[in-house]
Amino acid sequence: MKLELAPIGFIHSPHEQAEGTPIQPRYAETVDGTVEVFPAFAPGLRDLAGFDRIWLLFWCHRACPARLEVIPYLDTQPRGVFATRAPSRPNPIGLSCVRLLAIEGPILRVAGLDMLDGTPLMDIKPYVPDWDVFPADRVGWYAQAGGPRLADGRFAQGTEPQPP
Ligand SMILES: C[S@@+](CC[C@H](N)C(=O)[O-])C[C@H]1O[C@@H](n2cnc3c(N)ncnc32)[C@H](O)[C@@H]1O
Repeated sequence: MKLELAPIGFIHSPHEQAEGTPIQPRYAETVDGTVEVFPAFAPGLRDLAGFDRIWLLFWCHRACPARLEVIPYLDTQPRGVFATRAPSRPNPIGLSCVRLLAIEGPILRVAGLDMLDGTPLMDIKPYVPDWDVFPADRVGWYAQAGGPRLADGRFAQGTEPQPP
């Protein structure tokens, strides 16, 4: 089966390249930017202003080709890509929970951006703690993870595959 997807807009952030970009919104709380929703989809923004946070689903369009085993940013060991948030994956979908600051027509002002400028936006959903927060005792390899909270260029277009 093949699916055809088309962006509903673009994300504008200060991050021009992967290197130095925060690896999650948690480490990007002061990074503001905008989400531009194409006018055809603007009616779908009705009632979104009542939410503090929203999920952005986006296409990591500048990731290197998919790898099934990767060394995540916060680790030194190869891990299965589906046990990580690496942007280089078979369908390079990213999801980030960002703070919604304002809505001005088809433009959302947001904070907490960990995606590159010009990233295609695939969907927006409201963040609802009742649905989206679960207690979890086990967090796999992340329990031992450490290291910088900013990305290097390991998953950027043109980078060599990492050794598995
Ligand atoms: C580790 S991913 C996490 C993305 C999202 N929060 C998630 O969990 O799915 C974030 C990193 O992906 C890279 N990145 C962000 N936007 C990208 C894009 N459009 N194309 C390729 N890489 C991107 C940046 O290096 C950024 O630091």
